Amino acid sequence: MPQANQIEINPFQQKTEAVAALQAEGITVEAWAPFAEGKNDIFHNPVLSKIGAKYGKSVAQVITRWLVERDIVVLAKSTKPDRMAENLNVFDFALSNEDKAEIAKLDSMFAAIVNHDTVDNLKRISAWKMGV
Ligand SMILES: NC(=O)c1ccc[n+]([C@@H]2O[C@H](COP(=O)([O-])OP(=O)(O)OC[C@H]3O[C@@H](n4cnc5c(N)ncnc54)[C@H](OP(=O)(O)O)[C@@H]3O)[C@@H](O)[C@H]2O)c1
Repeated sequence: MPQANQIEINPFQQKTEAVAALQAEGITVEAWAPFAEGKNDIFHNPVLSKIGAKYGKSVAQVITRWLVERDIVVLAKSTKPDRMAENLNVFDFALSNEDKAEIAKLDSMFAAIVNHDTVDNLKRISAWKMGV
């Protein structure tokens, strides 16, 4: 078995079942596009912004913390040193169960590369694209 598996994981693609299955096998899970490549206006998402405001943290820090708390390696990319430092500064706060329940509601809204691997996802993507 591989020691690590790198897959898209972010608030819009949470991969809860896949992460649990991989971790149960002792495989380290790594998240690419942890910020959804900045798409879908993720850095202004109202749910993530509201959670960040409670702790004096940015959306990027909320996402990074959420991944760290799931024992997922965060492959966040930034070309800017100040943002690299910001993205690492997540070890002085913790998300509440209420925060995590709010983030869970953002799942499957958007994939950086369209995730059409299950009928359930197809239905959710279709409903989202149709605005229903
Ligand atoms: N996307 C893929 O298909 C893929 C596949 C496999 C591996 N990877 C790897 O995964 C890593 C993650 O990069 P990614 O391209 O997938 O996207 P990502 O990390 O989800 O998002 C990167 C974007 O977020 C911005 N950003 C980073 N920190 C920020 C902050 N604190 N505030 C506001 N904006 C911020 C970056 O802009 P600035 O640079 O301007 O800060 C950039 O536009 C990379 O090392 C990549 O090589 C990606």
